[in-house]
Amino acid sequence: MVTHTLSVEYTEISGISQLADEDRKLLSDAWDACECAYAPYSNFNVGAALILANGLTFKGNNQENGAYPSGICAERVAVFSASALHPGVPIKTIAVVAKTNVFNLANPVTPCGACRQVISEYEFLSGKPIRIILQGNSEKIWIINGIANLLPLMFHGSELKK
Ligand code: THU
Repeated sequence: MVTHTLSVEYTEISGISQLADEDRKLLSDAWDACECAYAPYSNFNVGAALILANGLTFKGNNQENGAYPSGICAERVAVFSASALHPGVPIKTIAVVAKTNVFNLANPVTPCGACRQVISEYEFLSGKPIRIILQGNSEKIWIINGIANLLPLMFHGSELKK
């Protein structure tokens, strides 16, 4: 019997001044998107912004629905928009932010399992790690280099088509 141990890593910084210009702009775009979230049921607003390898940026926010499961997360709105309009162009970085008055967000909010799986699909396709920048209700920012740090032992569905 062998027990394997996997480790994940992320970097924490204490404010936007420690970010490069491109990342700072992306985070700001994510906050703009967060303001336009449609989240009347959860009051949990999430915004996402991503930059593609060709420099184009896309925003998304959570879109809820009275039939609850019909809603979709901010990350997937941004990622699917980008892939719909620019298929095959690698995603370089995605910034995700969240805001709520329902509870205190001491730490940045990390993407849900479904969004991690979706991000992994596009990372696997391009073969390059996607950077993920996260911020919540404080100056604290987490930077994650590659989806494996959020989704160890992930399922690569796209291998099925080979
Ligand atoms: N939500 C996101 O947009 N992204 C996540 O990664 C976590 C959850 C949204 C879905 C729902 O509209 C609200 O946050 C509460 O779960």
